[in-house]
Amino acid sequence: MRLLETFEDGAALSQAAGTEFVALATAAIDARGRFTVALSGGSTPRRLYELLATPPLRDAVDWGRVEFFWGDERAVPPEHPDSNYGAAAAALLDKIGAAPSLVHRMRGEDPDLDRAARDYQLTIARRFEIDPEGPPPALDLILLGMGPDGHTASLFPASPALKERRRWVVRNHAARLGADRITLTAPMLNQGRDLRLLVTGADKAETLKAVLEGPADPERLPVQLIAPTSGHLRWLLDRAAAADLKAGA
Ligand code: 6PG
Repeated sequence: MRLLETFEDGAALSQAAGTEFVALATAAIDARGRFTVALSGGSTPRRLYELLATPPLRDAVDWGRVEFFWGDERAVPPEHPDSNYGAAAAALLDKIGAAPSLVHRMRGEDPDLDRAARDYQLTIARRFEIDPEGPPPALDLILLGMGPDGHTASLFPASPALKERRRWVVRNHAARLGADRITLTAPMLNQGRDLRLLVTGADKAETLKAVLEGPADPERLPVQLIAPTSGHLRWLLDRAAAADLKAGA
């Protein structure tokens, strides 16, 4: 599988991502009886979620064996328009009738986000029946995006979470937004079996070139931290985001 794939536009990218989601879900369920996926926030994946909630893709997945997690969450309640959980619930989870026991949202409404992050790590450990103080588990699929500033999940440039090497989930501060978030950390993300970075839009082209073709500088470009220990990373790009990459990328 190629590391990078460029599509004409967001619609074609979402269709390809949806087909991959179904293939990965089917393989995981066949192999291990369930498919664990971390959803991303932002606008790019919304079309993917809507495609997954619509035939034929909706009917190609045994949703009763899919377990949902999140890569990050804003410091808002689930019904808030900025909630990543809320966006995924509206676009996908409510439409497929996801069982609440299989939907594990980060509690962005908790006034103590450090506690919410610790609680989420305990939730993950419980679902994988492992020690919450040990190494992170491998999610089957982790969906990620990239901001124009090179952040992914809520790992923002020069933010404290970039240095986290032990915890799986932490509170992080997004200085540019003046806001706190909850985010999976690089150790947790890089344990994933399959990671898909969905990047669209001309406003990302310059950053994407720096990330993929420039020097390593993860403090400035946190998405460069994404380097799976043994899993498969693929970048799904639209033509506009890939415009500055060397030809044939
Ligand atoms: C979030 C996301 C974030 C997102 C990027 C890209 O909470 O906003 O997790 O990391 O993936 O900001 O967002 P777009 O896909 O909307 O450009």
